[in-house]
Amino acid sequence: MPEKNLNIVSFAGSLRKGSISRRLLKSSIELTPSAMNITELDIEEIPMFNADLEDAGTPSAIVELKKSVASSDGLLIVTPEYNNGIPGVTKNIIDWLSRKNSEHGNVLSGLPVDIIAIAGGSTGSANLVRTQIRQVLVYPGAVPMPNGDIGLSGKQLVFNHSGQLTGETFIDQVRKNLDDFADWIYRLSN
Ligand SMILES: Cc1cc2nc3c(=O)[nH]c(=O)nc-3n(C[C@H](O)[C@H](O)[C@H](O)COP(=O)(O)O)c2cc1C
Repeated sequence: MPEKNLNIVSFAGSLRKGSISRRLLKSSIELTPSAMNITELDIEEIPMFNADLEDAGTPSAIVELKKSVASSDGLLIVTPEYNNGIPGVTKNIIDWLSRKNSEHGNVLSGLPVDIIAIAGGSTGSANLVRTQIRQVLVYPGAVPMPNGDIGLSGKQLVFNHSGQLTGETFIDQVRKNLDDFADWIYRLSN
């Protein structure tokens, strides 16, 4: 029996216009296996976590974000590494998604998660940010892919005028990561 189509949502842990993480996310949308669709989550208007905002009625941007994640088959996080760790943007989204008290509840619980990390250095593989994301996902009960996530050097990535990632080696790495993620989701659901 053919496996079901996978609806993956994704965000980039960087808000700047020229973000390599965001460009890679957009490019990854074209590199998915045939049974997978990736939709970018809009995180530009997401405020810093503040429980007072929940008490006053969770902002609609957060409710929409949680709804998209809750109805997905998995989450792809494309993030830079900052100071050997998780950038505030990435951690902030994880924190909002984990909240039990607001509408849709803790949408990370039981959710398969894939990580692609961007390092600043020419040889860096952004290991620490991936390790730390896996660590913080334990408490809300997400199920990060145990291996097959990747770290790439932002300095080595080249995008063409259409915004597509170039270079067979990098394209193959991203394709394999997404194939592995699909396998991981199917394994969890069987
Ligand atoms: C505050 C800060 C800390 C950083 N720390 C690291 C680091 O620890 N390791 C690393 O490989 N790159 C580090 N970088 C470089 C970024 O990961 C790199 O510039 C990346 O491309 C930024 O992501 P973006 O292009 O999606 O905005 C740091 C950048 C900033 C702004």
